[in-house]
Amino acid sequence: MKRVLSGMQSSGRLTLGNYIGALRNYVKLQDEHKCYFMVANLHALTVPQEPAALKEQTESVAALYLAAGIDPSKASIFLQSSVKEHAELGWLLTTLTYMGELERMTQFKDKSAGKDSIGVGLFTYPSLMAADILLYNADLIPVGDDQKQHLELTRDLALRFNKRFGDTFTIPQPYIPEVGARIMGLDDASKKMSKSSPNPGSFIAMLDEPDVIRKKFSRAVTDSGREVKYDPQNKPEISNLISIYTQCSELTVAQVEAKYEGGQGYGTFKKDLAEVVVAQLEPIQTRYREIRESGELYEVLRKGAQEATELASATVREVKEKMGIVQP
Ligand code: TYM
Repeated sequence: MKRVLSGMQSSGRLTLGNYIGALRNYVKLQDEHKCYFMVANLHALTVPQEPAALKEQTESVAALYLAAGIDPSKASIFLQSSVKEHAELGWLLTTLTYMGELERMTQFKDKSAGKDSIGVGLFTYPSLMAADILLYNADLIPVGDDQKQHLELTRDLALRFNKRFGDTFTIPQPYIPEVGARIMGLDDASKKMSKSSPNPGSFIAMLDEPDVIRKKFSRAVTDSGREVKYDPQNKPEISNLISIYTQCSELTVAQVEAKYEGGQGYGTFKKDLAEVVVAQLEPIQTRYREIRESGELYEVLRKGAQEATELASATVREVKEKMGIVQP
């Protein structure tokens, strides 16, 4: 049995990309491993958030974890802010992180591009993410493709700490799905589907109404051809839609291609795709509403935080001891 940790920022509404790239794998991993799934609400603060919206998004992410099938009797579900050791170890690891390492992070470059004032938190974010992982000595980190670089830094920091202060941290491995690790935007297949995009037409939110999902797919940008063919180089938009299709159905890429063979255009394909996605998301949405109404969420989160704190506090104690921080 391995130890698994992952999380999602509560910086918007979870998307189909979050679901396919990560959340679905959380659910798969919980049966065989000891899992910790947090809502990364401290990370969400690295860009400005309206307090009321942050609160709602945080609860919504946690409820979606449950609705997607994470079982709190198997996995610990908690808020990052409820386990103070995240901030504490985050600071300690910041002192071991080099400016150059953070400057190289593509997520930082993307999010800070063209901005006059850039929050320090956005810059030091990867040290906090390393703390999230190393606190639990997690072995496996289920994430989408875009988190690879952050995970490499986490590994470097763990190795650096171990070398300097003695063996302490497990070196984590990414768990990235072969297909679906990078779902692209519906408006622009050169950009990943993102919950913080200002254009709601670019993403499918997990909680979008079925009719909204249908409309968004019908308006998804495609090339001007007629062939449903997986060819990421020349047909990035259609290839992205085929990926989504295969991830939300039992069909393989070849089967999807065969189904829409004959150059009949994209209309039927897009309509069917919308139905396939609606069929995946509708039961989750129903459970989501039940969970929000039942009021069970806070209890689940309190229990999860207690379980997480047990492990996290022992790690921080050990780290402080090794770094020479007096703990009277
Ligand atoms: P975040 O909130 O941006 O995304 C949550 C998870 O969803 C994956 N993902 C995608 N996968 C496929 N296609 C997409 N278009 C897509 N968009 C997002 C992300 O890779 C991620 O797995 N830094 C993290 C949150 C975090 C974290 C952690 C993750 C904080 N601490 C510790 C793992 C371990 C983030 O911003 O993910």
